[in-house]
Amino acid sequence: PWLCAFVSVVSRQFSQKEFLLILFLLSCHATKPNLLNVHLVPHTHDDVGWLKTVDQYYYGDRNDIQHAGVQYILDSVVDQLLKNPDRRFIYVETAFFYRWWKRQSADVRRTVRRLVDEGRLEFVNGGWCMSDEATTHYSAVIDQMTMGLRFLNDTFGPCGRPRVAWHIDPFGHAREHASMFAQMGYDGFFFGRLDYQDRSRRRIAREQELLWRASDSLTPPMADLFTGILPNGYNPPEGFCWDQSCDDPPIRDDPDLEDYNVDDVVKRFLAIANTQAKVYKTNHIIMTMGSDFQYENANLWYKNLDKLIRYVNGRQANGSRVHALYSTPSCYLQELHRANLTWALKTDDFFPYADDAHDLWTGYFTSRPALKRYERISNGNLQTCNQLEVLGGPISRNGPFGKGDSQTMKKAMAVAQHHDAVSGTEKQHVADDYARRLAGGWLRCQVLVSNSLAALSGSTAERIYCDKLNVSVCPLTESSSKFSVNVYNPLARPVSWPVRLPVNGTSYKVSDAEGRSVDCQVCVCVRNRGFAVNELVFQARAPPLGFTTYSVSLLRDGPPAASTRRRTPTAIQNKVRPPLCLCVLVLQFLRVTFDPDTGLLSGLSNLETKQTIKLTQNFYWYNASDGNNSKSDQPSGAYIFRPNSSTPFVISRTAKTETVQTSVLQEVRQWFSPWVSQVVRLHGDSRALELEWTVGPLPIDDDLGKEVITRLDSSIQTAEYFYTDSNGREILQRKKDFRPTWILRQSEPVAGNYYPINSRAFIKDEVDQLTVVTDRSQGGSSIQNGSLEIMLHRRLLYDDVRGVAEPLNETSALFPEGLVVRGRLLLSLDRPPTAADAHRPLAQQAVLQPTLTFTDGEPRPNTRGRWSPCLQFSGLQAALPPAVHLLTLTQWDEDSVLLRLEHQFQSRESKENSRPVTVNLQKLFSTLEILGASELNLSANQWKDEMKRFHWTPQTGM
Ligand SMILES: *[C@@H]1O[C@H](CO)[C@@H](O)[C@H](O)[C@H]1NC(C)=O
Ligand SMILES: *[C@@H]1O[C@H](CO)[C@@H](O)[C@H](O)[C@H]1NC(C)=O
Ligand SMILES: *[C@@H]1O[C@H](CO)[C@@H](O)[C@H](O)[C@H]1NC(C)=O
Ligand SMILES: *[C@@H]1O[C@H](CO)[C@@H](O)[C@H](O)[C@H]1NC(C)=O
Ligand SMILES: [Zn+2]
Repeated sequence: PWLCAFVSVVSRQFSQKEFLLILFLLSCHATKPNLLNVHLVPHTHDDVGWLKTVDQYYYGDRNDIQHAGVQYILDSVVDQLLKNPDRRFIYVETAFFYRWWKRQSADVRRTVRRLVDEGRLEFVNGGWCMSDEATTHYSAVIDQMTMGLRFLNDTFGPCGRPRVAWHIDPFGHAREHASMFAQMGYDGFFFGRLDYQDRSRRRIAREQELLWRASDSLTPPMADLFTGILPNGYNPPEGFCWDQSCDDPPIRDDPDLEDYNVDDVVKRFLAIANTQAKVYKTNHIIMTMGSDFQYENANLWYKNLDKLIRYVNGRQANGSRVHALYSTPSCYLQELHRANLTWALKTDDFFPYADDAHDLWTGYFTSRPALKRYERISNGNLQTCNQLEVLGGPISRNGPFGKGDSQTMKKAMAVAQHHDAVSGTEKQHVADDYARRLAGGWLRCQVLVSNSLAALSGSTAERIYCDKLNVSVCPLTESSSKFSVNVYNPLARPVSWPVRLPVNGTSYKVSDAEGRSVDCQVCVCVRNRGFAVNELVFQARAPPLGFTTYSVSLLRDGPPAASTRRRTPTAIQNKVRPPLCLCVLVLQFLRVTFDPDTGLLSGLSNLETKQTIKLTQNFYWYNASDGNNSKSDQPSGAYIFRPNSSTPFVISRTAKTETVQTSVLQEVRQWFSPWVSQVVRLHGDSRALELEWTVGPLPIDDDLGKEVITRLDSSIQTAEYFYTDSNGREILQRKKDFRPTWILRQSEPVAGNYYPINSRAFIKDEVDQLTVVTDRSQGGSSIQNGSLEIMLHRRLLYDDVRGVAEPLNETSALFPEGLVVRGRLLLSLDRPPTAADAHRPLAQQAVLQPTLTFTDGEPRPNTRGRWSPCLQFSGLQAALPPAVHLLTLTQWDEDSVLLRLEHQFQSRESKENSRPVTVNLQKLFSTLEILGASELNLSANQWKDEMKRFHWTPQTGM
């Protein structure tokens, strides 16, 4: 089945045994074993949104911003490939290719299929986009890769399956991405950007091609990925850019005309090739002949490349040792594999990325925090939508509430994974476009979710969605005296979740699905923006992969009972001790203390494990460099974090506080300044302390850009080590001013120690581990021992000269003075050997939060009036074991679903949970009967038993 070539230009004999293999190799041009082979790879780098939106890029609209039109690129390349069968092209971003393919005639499609079958047009990477690696969560990356690769398989079959992962532009590389690519069946991986110190060392050591062992837990070679660092980012060598957007001289080869330059061109090319060969290991080197949105007029490139190959190879008659050829990354990779060498082994990652001493790309870990949060919420919403499409059956897509779909949301989420999307490095109008797509996707999903819940509950009552609960807005709960709340839990284990609803009454009765009354409280704890005066708080318990329903009825209107409200203001300036100090919060599992003088957090205890640490928390801001200083003219911007000083300014040494204590919830609210406040919150049966921060609008009237952090300073003895997750999955150890693979010259003491945090970070010593679970991707570090800081928000006045050409200065219609961002951190204090048992589920719960829907009035039977509504449902027969995470449950086609189960613990991380587990698929679902199952690779584009990857040998012989 993997016969992808009909061209027959073989220069060697082959035996019967080699037959299949050779037939595949045929689509690659023959190389010369005794010469230096230069693989010329024509390519275009098409951002799925950056300076223009994805659709503007596709059509070539708004060329005033940037001249770029992907439809013309594909038109032009296909024409040019037909003109000469030797020519090759690779295409990467399926989001664009799909748009183009949809509009092509049967004729063009036939032609393109032939080009793909013959290996003249090759797909590499093949995801919907080229995802960001620092700020994405693995579940969304797997989804977007699956969508792109599925389109390629459906359209082109096995010849459309990319064999090479290609991340030429992302700004640093995550180990979890390499692990995923390996499990998706890729034979190798190429990228363009890495730390400038790392690159220069690798050039000398000839270690720009290496073997990345990307998991501590998977048995090699399961997560081994051959990794190549491209010679010149992803650009052509200097002087050899023949795109219409470049100014390099064309090859002028008519000796009768003026300016004949073939000798000069060939001489320059040979010099570059020979220099490049010195820093790579084999007699094969690669040159990326293309760049951003190039090949719109592909004739320019190909005409000159044809000539270049002809004239360079013509010199072989005179003894030249260089052989140039049209190639692709997989043809190049195949030669490296054939070389049968051993390769340097790498086990850490490629963060942070610096392209110069003061140019650390660590700002984008936090840039556009609101978009990052919205993307994360959307991922949860999409998983709920996918699951309910399966559980509700076909009526979900076309039911009582009309036609809904999950496809729109899938596409919006896939586009949002692009390395200028969730990364926050796009222009403002493009960021708005990503958010708009997510909102549109969720609207389509809402119809599906309503249909599905109607089918599963037997009630066709209208469902209301309240997406602004974070600012206490939900018109239904504010005005209704009787409503019900459906809590859908997308996790495969039961959850207990604090429900907070804005209300106007002062006393409510809440009953669960069995009619039992539930402990609830009304408190004056609304979180601005809305009109409601109170919040109703209760703890909901939802079954695995299912829902439960609570009914709420108003008992009394009027002002809130005084007993739920105790104020303890602390003077900010004068150190007046407040008369009655409530400086301790205690609930079932945790005890939190506050310093009575400052109002700041001062200690945390876990009452179960009997641990106590000193813990101070406060907010600070780094003064963003404006670039005007002697060391470097680099300012802080959307990509780059460059504080003007390593010491951040404290926003306030004291916090004004107010306390709310009820039986289900205890809160201390802290005001640090008009633009920074926080609620420190303990919920009934939660083992984690919640810090809900609100930051903004960041003042800029002092003309200083600000990068706001919160810092936790603890008594934990950390000895310069701290830990961050990789794309929300495995944990990596970090050490201050240190890189595992080279001797670091640290030139940015703060920014050079920042790492991406996707879902959690921790510090620990022998006895205590403090874990912080985040609600979105953020940057963070440990600059002092015992301390952990997380960057929450940034507002900058200068562009950082990496192309986006706008300062990161976010405002919106609601926030014309500057964006206000709210989020939360969950803190958990544990004994190191059992900490993973606590933070793994906590992090999954933060990613896949329950979806709440509301119906007004009493629960009603459906239109036929026959069914009594089902108030509680679980799609599983029983909860999955703690080690197993249900990662994906989504409709694949009419009669099959895609299911991904994940062992979510690393090896050795948990005594209890790191062990292998067995799940009985037949006994998994409560309403679905499994008729058959076939195992696929991680991206679901290859059957597991057909998956066969190149084998590579590490230098150490491991
Ligand atoms: C690769 O090299 C090893 C030893 O270095 C050798 O045993 C093996 O036969 C070689 N494989 C091929 C295909 O040449
Ligand atoms: C809730 O009460 C506030 C203040 O009394 C009022 O402005 C608002 O309209 C009420 N909301 C609803 C939905 O009744
Ligand atoms: C930042 O945004 C504010 C509010 O829109 C505006 O007044 C200010 O000029 C902007 N500053 C820069 C440097 O863009
Ligand atoms: C790939 O697509 C073909 C149809 O082109 C289909 O028959 C096959 O099952 C697909 N492979 C996988 C792994 O889904
Ligand atoms: Zn890019």
